[in-house]
Amino acid sequence: MIQYDLAFSKNIKAMKRSVIRELLKVTQSPEIISFAGGLPSPESFPIEEIKKITMEVLEKNGTKALQYGATEGFPPLADELIKLMALDNVKIGRENLAITIASQQGLDLVGKIFFNPGDIAIVESPTYVGALSAFNSYRGKLVDVELDDDGMRIDILKKTLANLKKQGKKPKFIYVIPDFHNPAGVTLSYERRKQLIEIAKKEKIMIIEDSPYRMVRFRGKNIPSLYSMDKEGLVVSLFTFSKIFVPGFRLGWAIGPKEIIDKMIIAKQATDLSTPEITQHIAASFLQKKLLLPTVKKTVSIYEKKNKLMLEMLDKYMPKKKGVRWTKPDGGLFLWVTLPEKYDCDKIFTKAIEKKVAYVVGSAFYVGGKKKNSFRMNFSYPSMEQIKVGVKRLAEVIDNEIK
Ligand SMILES: Cc1ncc(COP(=O)(O)O)c(C=O)c1O
Repeated sequence: MIQYDLAFSKNIKAMKRSVIRELLKVTQSPEIISFAGGLPSPESFPIEEIKKITMEVLEKNGTKALQYGATEGFPPLADELIKLMALDNVKIGRENLAITIASQQGLDLVGKIFFNPGDIAIVESPTYVGALSAFNSYRGKLVDVELDDDGMRIDILKKTLANLKKQGKKPKFIYVIPDFHNPAGVTLSYERRKQLIEIAKKEKIMIIEDSPYRMVRFRGKNIPSLYSMDKEGLVVSLFTFSKIFVPGFRLGWAIGPKEIIDKMIIAKQATDLSTPEITQHIAASFLQKKLLLPTVKKTVSIYEKKNKLMLEMLDKYMPKKKGVRWTKPDGGLFLWVTLPEKYDCDKIFTKAIEKKVAYVVGSAFYVGGKKKNSFRMNFSYPSMEQIKVGVKRLAEVIDNEIK
């Protein structure tokens, strides 16, 4: 018998199945109200428009839309994305842009071009679980820095960098999710953005700004992106159509200094040659017809209502007096509930499932799974009725657990 294990690389042996994807299998039974997934609301999908545009693309441009394409991406889509970025005060040219298979590929390419095994990167604590797996797959060593309601704690970042320096170590990059963080739902304040850019400039460290939710703001004022604040070519930003258009197209883009985008394109060539042309043609036409912003507006108004209801229900039913806290996001898809430190939300998950309600265990979002007293709740996918019933159910489970 062949021993497959002897054939596998150290990289793949270091990788694990996504905890979330495994959990989602348990939560998919119809009687369970799930706040576990990270899915956009299907009510926001512009199905009719996509149908019409797809027919047009195939009729007018079928031979090109079904052909191989350039690794950089479909030029008319790139031009639309450059215009879209300009609306957010980001001025880039084609050389600063790579169209990717959504932002998960952006994260993979970042890992691929920056990490030698054992290289260090700073991440937030907690952080996006998919970034942990992408970076772990290149055997990056992740050093985490706590966050609070204003995003990454810059005082702790400074101490962490000083400690690493003492050991003669320097991180390759600092990875942040500045807008409506997944999982924590918080936003990096303007003050901290300025400080972060200053530190990156002084220490000559790259920043990876992962911002899939940036356009999904339903409260408060826009804060400039790190990319728009940087004058030194320190920032690479990752974006995606997943939360503002449709996730099924698996379409996103990375922006950054030309030298870095060049390397990402070389790395992408080895992975998949190019992003599918057909979805890029459809997305380009969708943008040319000025349909994106109205779609985003509709999405934001749906999420605003759902978030408001979830917060109201949490306020009404969660045992606040027993030390349960949660974040109040200004946008995005998630909020983050924290119990007093001694409670284990991995264990409470089983009891929640018995009561037919689900969340994602917070430990999945920590380097080494080190903290267990939090969980993530999604408000974009469940219906208003499910939010009403589900939060009440969950609050009862938590109330019973906390003595
Ligand atoms: C912070 C963050 N980055 C990246 C992704 C990957 O999204 P996609 O590959 O659909 O663009 C997600 C998805 O939830 C996310 O929350």
